Amino acid sequence: MKLAIGICGASGAILGLKFVSKIIDNDNLDIFLVISNNAKNTLKHENNIDFDDQNTSNPIIYNLYKNKQKIKILDNSNLAECISSGSFGIDAMAIIPCSINSLAKITCGISDTLITRSAHVCLKEKKKLLIAPREMPLDSISLQNMLTLSKEGAIIAPPIIGYYSNSDSLESMENFLIGRWLDVLGIKNYIYKRWS
Ligand SMILES: Cc1cc2nc3c(=O)[nH]c(=O)nc-3n(C[C@H](O)[C@H](O)[C@H](O)COP(=O)(O)O)c2cc1C
Repeated sequence: MKLAIGICGASGAILGLKFVSKIIDNDNLDIFLVISNNAKNTLKHENNIDFDDQNTSNPIIYNLYKNKQKIKILDNSNLAECISSGSFGIDAMAIIPCSINSLAKITCGISDTLITRSAHVCLKEKKKLLIAPREMPLDSISLQNMLTLSKEGAIIAPPIIGYYSNSDSLESMENFLIGRWLDVLGIKNYIYKRWS
């Protein structure tokens, strides 16, 4: 499966990186990761992470760069990257988290970044597009945008936790979210406690 992952500048950009870290060893996936400059900014503010520092001691970033062969990290400003074309044959895309800004652009068909362009490719090619918008509270414009995209076939899956997983730590709550996103994409996982 060719899976594109976009990380936007909404709060919790770290969740997008943790999502990638959970599938890094999945041999069935070809992963293409795009991270917006605003996401890098958010990572700096919220997690004190410099995404571009390849010598970082942060284990998540370190692991990403260590697996460079497997995970292609693409430049969000380069619209000539492979995933920008429908003919490349991307199977699915997840945008985690998705900013209200990129959500609005995708809804309007604006494709001026690799993330928004690839999302548009998924819509036009009728491929799976998972969008995890992060904002609270939500205005009517954003709610309308989500409805429009949902009607277009996108899966709107915000980072909303479920208490039925009996999460007792931030990590287990995050695993619950990541596991649910993987479920939606059809990627087998055992990282959270399911309802039984
Ligand atoms: C620390 C920080 C937190 C932010 N949190 C959010 C958020 O939760 N949701 C959101 O839509 N935008 C948030 N923003 C604003 C976005 O970064 C901004 O709208 C930006 O244009 C998004 O760009 P992108 O869509 O290219 O990533 C935040 C910005 C900063 C600096």
